[in-house]
Amino acid sequence: MWNIQRFEQIDSTNSALKRQRDASHGTVYVAKRQSSGRGRMGRSFVSPHGIYYSVLLRRSEPPTSLMHLTAMVAVAVRRALSKAADIQTDIKWVNDLLLGQKKLCGILVESEGDRYIIGIGINCNTDPDDLPEDVRQMAAVISCDEELLICELTRQLQDMDRCLLSHQKEWMQEYAAACVNIGKPVQILHGEERRQAVAVGVDENAALLVQESDGSIRSISSGEVSVRGLYGYI
Ligand code: BTN
Repeated sequence: MWNIQRFEQIDSTNSALKRQRDASHGTVYVAKRQSSGRGRMGRSFVSPHGIYYSVLLRRSEPPTSLMHLTAMVAVAVRRALSKAADIQTDIKWVNDLLLGQKKLCGILVESEGDRYIIGIGINCNTDPDDLPEDVRQMAAVISCDEELLICELTRQLQDMDRCLLSHQKEWMQEYAAACVNIGKPVQILHGEERRQAVAVGVDENAALLVQESDGSIRSISSGEVSVRGLYGYI
């Protein structure tokens, strides 16, 4: 059984869970607002009202066996949105969920030893006027029953936790089928150098497969590629 703790407001559900050194596997923090929500690459995540959900998983496998964790979280959240809110989202590699080409959900996975803190922020019942102009332009917002979505999210994440190693292949196939980047241009970043390539797939470890101009196929990890700014937000 996972243990769900709820907060009206918190600094960041990820930060708060990180501070709980003795929290057990399956401890969930869910908040309606965050004052210091955090995104990937040190960015902030504006959190005026929505579902801000973090769960702690303790996994003893070496990190190299869990490279696909964030991608499988994206599949779990996508399934939860489909079941609880009848919404079909796309995935922008690695871990944004899009609705109509705008970002509905961001995912931040942080790890320390065997502790993996999975943070999910969904613009659910968010008032667009509460988002800063630049965020609002790129954000999708849904209206739905928050309790139902939290419940389904928990169910799907539990399933993901069980399937993480045993069903990696099928989950990653579902990920690739929903990934909007496939068939589209990406920029490979190499220091100051930028090369254009085309995304052609996603492998079982969630690396993006790209075809370079000479026809060769390479697998790319998230630090080496920019998928942004080439065709609108996607
Ligand atoms: C991103 O899009 O860059 C990732 C955003 C992750 C936001 C979630 S909201 C719940 C959890 N707490 C945080 O401070 N961040 C994550």
